[in-house]
Amino acid sequence: MNQPGRLTGRLVALGITGSIAAFKAVDLLRLFRAEGADVVVLMTPSATRFVAPLTLAALSRRPVDADVLDLLPDGRIGHVITADAADVVVVAPATAHWLGAMAHGLAADVVTATCLATSAPVVVGPAMDGEMYAHPATQANVRILREEFGYRIVEPETGGLASGQVGVGRLAALERIVDAAIDAIGVRPIRKPDPADRPPRLPDGDDAARDADDLVGRHVVVTAGGTAEPIDPVRYIGNRSTGAMGIAVCEAARDRGARVTLIVGTASVALPQGMAIVRVETATQMRDALLEQLASGFDALIMSAAVADFRPAAPSVLKLPRTPAGLSLELVANPDILAEIGRRVRGIGEDGAPVPPALTPAPVLVGFAAETGSIVRAAAKLATKRVDFVVANDVAETGSGFGTPTNRVTILAADGTEDALPILPKREVAERILDRVGAALAGRDASE
Ligand code: CTP
Repeated sequence: MNQPGRLTGRLVALGITGSIAAFKAVDLLRLFRAEGADVVVLMTPSATRFVAPLTLAALSRRPVDADVLDLLPDGRIGHVITADAADVVVVAPATAHWLGAMAHGLAADVVTATCLATSAPVVVGPAMDGEMYAHPATQANVRILREEFGYRIVEPETGGLASGQVGVGRLAALERIVDAAIDAIGVRPIRKPDPADRPPRLPDGDDAARDADDLVGRHVVVTAGGTAEPIDPVRYIGNRSTGAMGIAVCEAARDRGARVTLIVGTASVALPQGMAIVRVETATQMRDALLEQLASGFDALIMSAAVADFRPAAPSVLKLPRTPAGLSLELVANPDILAEIGRRVRGIGEDGAPVPPALTPAPVLVGFAAETGSIVRAAAKLATKRVDFVVANDVAETGSGFGTPTNRVTILAADGTEDALPILPKREVAERILDRVGAALAGRDASE
């Protein structure tokens, strides 16, 4: 289901001012992109001291406008182009200083100048210390913005503040800001659909533009890590998966504009930001979590988790004591989750009879095949699991597999082609996998 985002085709001008909460603007930008928006970032000079413009340029794929006196390379005035083309201007976080400057029309920075020059709706998310927000000066400025200018103020929330105090001043939940922007646009037509009328994009080949944005508006589900199958309340059967490969896929998909859901079992690397995360322990829980995702819909599944093939038949409720005679465990097979998803997606019932497919159009399915010695068995997994791609790697090879920063994989496709990649950093492997997923999704849409 390639559900268009709620902001598909819209241009969001994201104004960032010099608050400690400026780092949250990175996730806010991602949320806008995941809704399908084209984003241009405007920053006050002090905001650039809190968050690097390069990060925002790479994620928005447009140069950041941070200098009110700067002209675009073609001589146009950046903030005027943005003001004319933006479907909404979102200022978040907005500092007390910025609220004051805006209330009085002091256009010394691009964010204020753009707001003055635009007829688009403006949404403001203030963020500051509680005492500052409560001050009559700030409150008067907020009132001017709301009542005289018609701006939507997404009120800050109560919580721990950077000062160490607790009060009203924490930037509102990012989802609230996105919802307010969508609400503010309402049913207005897209103002400038022609890219030529919008602020420029980064030139192709520019390092900051390297990540493609081919997954904007897509929902990508990724499983990562191992599963832990309980023997008793303290012991489990696990495996050596660190989750690094799957998490690299998540981050790459997120940076290419996808809405990402990560289903993660045991993992020893830091979990990523900017996506929904579902934590599971056992293969059964991972299956349940995936079936839930299948019910709500996704465009691609990248099944990089190392799912335990067996689990103890009868995990003990009490901790098993050590006995000199040793311990025999009876293991039963876990469900093959990917094979089940593949079957349901292709419209095949448990007994092999045709049933309505679980999702239309079919999502792109990617499995992994961890092999030792050779990858010949991987091709068979394409057919048995009914997936579009199998990423095969020899986990016994140096520089490939568990616990290494690199991986050497071969991507096998259902059309019989094989792409043997050299040893690459896991992030680069992730990009190569997503290149295939993005192309398959584009092909799927074209043939609909
Ligand atoms: N997989 C799964 N459910 C399982 C086992 C594996 O969904 N119970 C998925 C893995 O996440 C991976 C793919 O299937 O994407 C292949 O896993 P692998 O262990 O290599 O294949 P198996 O089918 O388990 O075959 P074998 O263990 O015989 O190699």
